[in-house]
Amino acid sequence: MVLLLMNVLIGFSLTAADIVIPGQPSLRYIRHGDVDIGGIMPALKYSPGALCGDAEFMEASYHYSESIVHAIDRINNNKSVLTDVQLGFVILDDCMKETTAAVQAMAFLPRESHTKIPQIRYANAPGSLRNHTPASPGLSYGSNSSNIHLQADTSKKGSIDSAQDSKAAGKNTLQTYNVVGVIGCLRSSNSMVAAHILGAGQVPLMSFMSTSPKLSNREMYPYFFRAVPPDNILVAAQVSFIVEMGWTYVSVVFAEGDYGETAYQSLKNELAQKEGYCIAGAHRIAQKAKHADYLNIVKELIKHREARVVVAFTDPESAPILMRASHELGHSNWFIWMTNESWKISIIQKVSGDVVMAVIVVVVIEITIVVVEIVVEIVVVVVVLLILVVVVVVVVVVVVVVVVVVVVVVVVALVVVVVRVVEIVVEIVVVVVVLLLVVVVVVVVVVVVVVVVVVVVVVVVVVVVTKTNFLNIDK
Ligand SMILES: *[C@@H]1O[C@H](CO)[C@@H](O)[C@H](O)[C@H]1NC(C)=O
Ligand SMILES: *[C@@H]1O[C@H](CO)[C@@H](O)[C@H](O)[C@H]1NC(C)=O
Ligand SMILES: *[C@@H]1O[C@H](CO)[C@@H](O)[C@H](O)[C@H]1NC(C)=O
Repeated sequence: MVLLLMNVLIGFSLTAADIVIPGQPSLRYIRHGDVDIGGIMPALKYSPGALCGDAEFMEASYHYSESIVHAIDRINNNKSVLTDVQLGFVILDDCMKETTAAVQAMAFLPRESHTKIPQIRYANAPGSLRNHTPASPGLSYGSNSSNIHLQADTSKKGSIDSAQDSKAAGKNTLQTYNVVGVIGCLRSSNSMVAAHILGAGQVPLMSFMSTSPKLSNREMYPYFFRAVPPDNILVAAQVSFIVEMGWTYVSVVFAEGDYGETAYQSLKNELAQKEGYCIAGAHRIAQKAKHADYLNIVKELIKHREARVVVAFTDPESAPILMRASHELGHSNWFIWMTNESWKISIIQKVSGDVVMAVIVVVVIEITIVVVEIVVEIVVVVVVLLILVVVVVVVVVVVVVVVVVVVVVVVVALVVVVVRVVEIVVEIVVVVVVLLLVVVVVVVVVVVVVVVVVVVVVVVVVVVVTKTNFLNIDK
């Protein structure tokens, strides 16, 4: 269809300015630099009847656009990456729709009228600096986005341009942008369409999210690159993980559509080659599935209670609904959900209480790095804890020893002092007693001596007197 469309365009040899797109696709997020990078990102929700619908903003996808802006800001602010060149961006909305992605890809096709792309010089490349005048940022200022939560400071962050503006100005013609490459799309089917168109113009397209193995076809998509591995690698990694864990009996939940069905088929094929591994049941989630359908799926899953591991190839939006259903039926913390990295945001935002084993197989190395990091962290924590314990023990022991020593010293000192005091008292008492004894003895001796002397004197006197009297009488 796209090729047909292009043939028609070329057949009528329309120039860029002549391409008419009734109802131009929605939002643009633009800040021009010396060199611009294109982006095809979803901003508004899918709408079956129009290129973009009545502007219901997709909160969940907004961060992809902001990530590009953030990365570009970091590069621009870092003089060791690019010297002399300011990167700009032109991010267009594909509303998750193939047709819209096709239109936006055409906006990035090279045009004759475009000025030559300035030569990019990397910081560490040899050569002299090129003089340049940086383009003024926020060139297409003119936001009509009061209902959209994009940055208000458009002069700094870029501008949000509404398609209505150009319609209002009577322009339904395709506006084109000169870019060196394009980042996008999110959905594989959109990337395929955009890669066909941009590839024809030799404009590289790089996706961060499109994982269809079909996009690995280099002949069909020579200008398509991606920063994620294709789904077949994910399934192979999941199967080796299942085998590694010895999960011989697993259930599968998959979304209706290309991604879910292809992934389920390859899981089935891969597991069939492993002896002793089988699938308890596979449950398809219809695109229009209601809450009751999710409840039914969980009821089916729990019938095979031994198959705790559920491999889920579903949209991220289904994750919280599935988990809530399993919670409502009282099976929280029973299932081990095995999925890819796309689940984590919606789960972190909306669910608690169930086991999620998000097998992030962006690259197996990533897991290894994470595991190594975790192990290192655990080791560090354990070592720190051990050191703390040792320090605490040492401190406690030292304190106890010091206290004991102090107590012993004090007690010994007290004892010594007491003993000494007792000794002194005893000595004093002994001395006093001895002194008293001596005094008593001396007094007694003196008294005895005095008494004896007195008696002797008296006796002598009496004898003498008596003798004299006798003598006198005799005379
Ligand atoms: C600037 O870029 C260099 C090389 O890519 C990187 O090592 C450095 O951390 C960056 N500096 C900042 C502030 O981001
Ligand atoms: C913005 O869009 C609304 C319709 O959504 C329109 O009524 C209004 O005139 C537009 N404003 C500007 C400044 O273009
Ligand atoms: C992860 O799952 C989503 C659907 O939930 C799918 O669109 C995407 O392609 C998957 N990513 C990988 C790397 O398989």
